[in-house]
Amino acid sequence: MDYKNLVVDALEPVLDGANQKDIYDRIEVPKESKMGDYAFPTFTLAKTMHKAPQIIAQEISEKIDQVKFEKVEVAGPYLNFFLDKKSFSNEVLTTVMKQKASYGQNEDGKGGKVPIDMSSPNIAKPISMGHLRSTVIGNSLALILEKNGYSPVKINHLGDWGTQFGKLITAYKLWGSEEEVKADPINKLLEYYVRFHKEDQKNPELDDIARDWFKKLENGDEEAITLWKWFRSESLKSFKYIYDKLGITFDSFNGEAFYNDKMDEVVELLEDKGLLKESQGAQVVDLEKYNLNPALIKKTDGATLYITRDLAAAIYRYRTYDFVQSLYVVGAEQTNHFKQLKAVLKEMGYDWSDNIHHIPFGLITLNGKKLSTRSGRVVLLDEVLNDAIKLASQQISEKNPDLKDAKQVANDVGVGAVIFHDLKNERTNSFDFNLAEVVRFEGETGPYVQYTRARAESILRKAGDIEIDENISISDTNAWETLKALESFPNTIKRAALAYEPSIIAKYALALAKAFNKYYANSKVLTNDQELGARIALVKSVSMVLKESLRLLGVKSPQEM
Ligand code: ARG
Repeated sequence: MDYKNLVVDALEPVLDGANQKDIYDRIEVPKESKMGDYAFPTFTLAKTMHKAPQIIAQEISEKIDQVKFEKVEVAGPYLNFFLDKKSFSNEVLTTVMKQKASYGQNEDGKGGKVPIDMSSPNIAKPISMGHLRSTVIGNSLALILEKNGYSPVKINHLGDWGTQFGKLITAYKLWGSEEEVKADPINKLLEYYVRFHKEDQKNPELDDIARDWFKKLENGDEEAITLWKWFRSESLKSFKYIYDKLGITFDSFNGEAFYNDKMDEVVELLEDKGLLKESQGAQVVDLEKYNLNPALIKKTDGATLYITRDLAAAIYRYRTYDFVQSLYVVGAEQTNHFKQLKAVLKEMGYDWSDNIHHIPFGLITLNGKKLSTRSGRVVLLDEVLNDAIKLASQQISEKNPDLKDAKQVANDVGVGAVIFHDLKNERTNSFDFNLAEVVRFEGETGPYVQYTRARAESILRKAGDIEIDENISISDTNAWETLKALESFPNTIKRAALAYEPSIIAKYALALAKAFNKYYANSKVLTNDQELGARIALVKSVSMVLKESLRLLGVKSPQEM
């Protein structure tokens, strides 16, 4: 239930002619609960009523029906409403206890399909921190959208086609060997790729050879195709190894190459609609009226481009999924590409292009340093995850040396810490990654939330079986922030979906954990009095909602740590 409506219902009869929505929108939520749970400012009324706001606040307070509230206070120009703690805590706790993990689930999405283009690393290059962001943001959005009643489809649009394969084949033919690649595929492929970029600085002819190999590949040359397939499958193996570690799966690995046989149709459609123009031998779509550069569809040599493949992919997704929204979780540096993509689709007469959304995100630096693949100065993601697991393991062995499953827990905490750190930042922010900070058990970290949840579980183990009936309520004011946080979970899930912003869930989890720890530090849970059952329900609810919040981020919650 939306408690703001209690305030609206109290105010409406005494505010002449104001409509409900208008009142609803004017109600504020004070920063601190001691200023009330809701506040109604009277400044706007003062203008039309030609009276001082303080006087209006006083008059309203005398007229309204206050029975539903603990109290209503006049504070200068504000009316502060304090909710009735007994009925509020009863409703929140019984709702969470009844709905369990489905608490917060809604059906806003009505089952509509939402393809999410996510991760999408490039074959024969290592997966980068940027791809990690796309992977974890995309995965969390899929979970959040699902919780809002949508049917997400996670698509890994692999970069498995393009001129880089010409480069890789060239490098392999010049410096590589089959045995070498078989022994250590990913590192070798990376080494060839890096060496190509080093040597073509001195020897630009290499670029011509690479272009020829790519052309052979496009024309179906057998040797080129065999090598391409081999490189692709080896790279995919290494990506999957990382995805397994992150616990993330995909519904489709249709990458760029999947659209090779769907390109002619796109070009034909563009031609039929009279959208293709020649420009210096190349075929382009003019996008001047969108204030965008022309989209380059076909090069002089007939080769199609990244955007041509994305046009084919967008149309394919529309036909296959009949989507209600189509998302692309891709770095902010590709903003223009997606603007062009949408504009071309719009020009083609596809109104569904309005439902395509680029979900951009900022850059990651590691301990202040930029990450790049070209130079080979890559911090392999795997190393980052392994280091995080090591740090988690050290802390666990200090705090809880006898923990069973310590290895699994260290894994969940280390990996969870990396994911959580990525997601707690608003997605378009750029941020630094300092592992020691990220894996700390205190502060605004994933391990802090996990630790809080494990602590709640340990309280519940100590409590044993305690009966919880329907009449539970909590009068202890120390529990108020926690109860209010629990109550706001369903609305938080809606907000996160509307803004495509997992950070809303991460920040929520931090706030709930903080509120609960403060409560626990100031109040005794396990004393035998009338409200014991209610307090146990509170601890259970906190544990459940923290676990569910972490799940929506793609982070596991160990029972003990
Ligand atoms: N492979 C591209 C890259 O690493 C990202 C692809 C994003 N998805 C898309 N449909 N364009 O930059």
